[in-house]
Amino acid sequence: MNSVLLFFLVLLLQDGFAKDIGVFWQVTDFHYDVNYSSTGDPNNMCHQDDVTFNATGSYGNYLCDSPWQLISSAIEAMYKIKPDPDFIIWTGDSVPHVPESDLDLDKVYTLIGNITDEIIRVFPNTSLFPVLGNHDPFPSNQMPYDVENNRYYKDILNVSNWNIVLRANESKQFQHGGYYSSQISKKFRLIGLNTNLYYDQDKLTRDLDDPANQFAWLKDELEGARKRQEAVYIIAHVPPGSFELGTGLGWFYDKYNRRYLDLLEEYSDVIMAQMYGHEHTDSFRVQLDAEGKPINTLFLCPAVTPWKSSLPGVGANNPSVRLYKYDRDTAIPQSYTQYYLNLTRANLKGNADNWEKEYDTSDVYAIDQLTPTALHGLARGFGDKSNKVFLSYLEFNSVMWDTSHECNDTCFIHHYCAITQLDYGQFNACLAGDGRLTTISPTDTTRHHSRRPTVPAQVPSYLYYVMGGLAVLLFVLFLVVAVMCFRRGNFRSFRVPKYSKFGSLSVNS
Ligand SMILES: *[C@@H]1O[C@H](CO)[C@@H](O)[C@H](O)[C@H]1NC(C)=O
Ligand SMILES: *[C@@H]1O[C@H](CO)[C@@H](O)[C@H](O)[C@H]1NC(C)=O
Ligand SMILES: *[C@@H]1O[C@H](CO)[C@@H](O)[C@H](O)[C@H]1NC(C)=O
Ligand SMILES: *[C@@H]1O[C@H](CO)[C@@H](O)[C@H](O)[C@H]1NC(C)=O
Ligand SMILES: *[C@@H]1O[C@H](CO)[C@@H](O)[C@H](O)[C@H]1NC(C)=O
Ligand SMILES: *[C@@H]1O[C@H](CO)[C@@H](O)[C@H](O)[C@H]1NC(C)=O
Ligand SMILES: *[C@@H]1O[C@H](CO)[C@@H](O)[C@H](O)[C@H]1NC(C)=O
Ligand SMILES: *[C@@H]1O[C@H](CO)[C@@H](O)[C@H](O)[C@H]1NC(C)=O
Ligand SMILES: [Zn+2]
Ligand SMILES: [Zn+2]
Repeated sequence: MNSVLLFFLVLLLQDGFAKDIGVFWQVTDFHYDVNYSSTGDPNNMCHQDDVTFNATGSYGNYLCDSPWQLISSAIEAMYKIKPDPDFIIWTGDSVPHVPESDLDLDKVYTLIGNITDEIIRVFPNTSLFPVLGNHDPFPSNQMPYDVENNRYYKDILNVSNWNIVLRANESKQFQHGGYYSSQISKKFRLIGLNTNLYYDQDKLTRDLDDPANQFAWLKDELEGARKRQEAVYIIAHVPPGSFELGTGLGWFYDKYNRRYLDLLEEYSDVIMAQMYGHEHTDSFRVQLDAEGKPINTLFLCPAVTPWKSSLPGVGANNPSVRLYKYDRDTAIPQSYTQYYLNLTRANLKGNADNWEKEYDTSDVYAIDQLTPTALHGLARGFGDKSNKVFLSYLEFNSVMWDTSHECNDTCFIHHYCAITQLDYGQFNACLAGDGRLTTISPTDTTRHHSRRPTVPAQVPSYLYYVMGGLAVLLFVLFLVVAVMCFRRGNFRSFRVPKYSKFGSLSVNS
């Protein structure tokens, strides 16, 4: 009798507190090459010279950057799969990996504008949040910080049409260094950063303290968000920490990496997720505090461009886009689905109808919310280089370009340490096999993980009565909350993009 009652109570409770789930797209690293030719030379970025090549491909080549056909097929595929997401984030790098002599600022503005226009054309009713990549200034990587004497950010707004995408006050903010903050809903804020300023290939910012005052601004924004009890997403191009492939090089200058991580740690209670691009690979990061407790998740989304990196030990990838599910009330990401184009097949067929699902985190990783603890558990569960879940992750890492499963101990430890150690010193200690940091086995109990509560093996029978009583109490509480919610009319309205033809756009289911 008691258990039957409990069963119905649980059903009622689940129904009463059903999550309000929203979705959003992330797309990144288009690297649009206007000079791509389907008869070009694959060993020269598929640029046409005197010799005509036959098998370069209409949709792209693993040795080259994206032709327009690939870019528009990716955006069209996003629309076909999910035409009405809550918003789209676009994390930079539109400019191709071509010699500097082929480019200038006008060409850069034009091609960034081409992609902006295409996303707006396909998704005229959806909010778009763009950030700049390290390839987007000219010369590449040299992101200006001296905003008083530089037109770059103004031109991106004015010439590349980002002033259509951002609201007036976000555009105004953007002029001060390519960063902005946007309120998405009542309790949810998105912060777009220009982390290219911290990239160690930026010679302009090497000797500075706080390029474009972004650190000071970010701290203020996060402080304000905490006071207003808003959940925050951070989006940016270059991630902190180290590359999981090749020699494991770090992206930021050391001093900026440390300062950025400290800020992320200080405000881990308001930051619900971070999304980055830049690596072109599919990976993630979990920030741990000094006690080894997971506090932040960083998602690294793979690229649209298939281009094989020039870095030693780094390969190519299939073109890819990502759809996240998140809880609209807490902003906690629930899962994401990775979609991809098998480039070889698209070129053989002569069409890009085969944009398809690659995997869904809730299936392959069997985790129901993408929290720091869940993702840390996933990484720890990798165990070793022949672990099945790790081998799935490894296939996804190159978006199924490399399905050979070739990954020796050195390769494995680079993945594991890059995912779990964002500080360079700790990353190196992890690689060197410092036992206190490389706690790979999920069953071990080193000092960093000894705080987990121990679960009693047997449940005493009186607990069932206690639980029954609690359930009845919860039921009463539920009724009260339900009535209150009804009265409040739990309504949330989303921002209206400036180019929308609507007076108001609301999302309420
Ligand atoms: C190029 O490809 C076309 C179509 O597949 C084929 O008819 C032609 O013979 C090929 N040319 C060369 C030089 O391989
Ligand atoms: C395309 O190629 C032409 C001819 O080499 C060159 O002048 C131009 O700068 C290139 N454009 C881009 C965007 O790479
Ligand atoms: C890119 O923009 C330029 C300037 O507006 C335009 O001439 C060109 O046709 C555009 N290219 C594409 C592929 O839309
Ligand atoms: C955008 O909204 C308008 C007005 O409801 C609608 O007619 C149009 O089909 C929408 N466009 C897209 C691409 O969803
Ligand atoms: C924007 O560009 C137009 C011409 O393309 C120019 O007349 C105008 O002054 C620019 N505005 C700003 C704020 O730079
Ligand atoms: C931008 O304007 C909106 C609406 O007026 C406001 O809610 C928001 O706080 C402003 N954002 C900034 C960064 O000033
Ligand atoms: C991609 O397509 C090619 C050609 O059809 C096929 O050989 C290959 O196995 C496919 N790759 C994946 C990961 O499905
Ligand atoms: C793992 O493979 C890489 C090259 O793929 C090689 O440089 C490295 O020495 C190998 N490490 C071990 C432990 O075999
Ligand atoms: Zn890139
Ligand atoms: Zn990049």
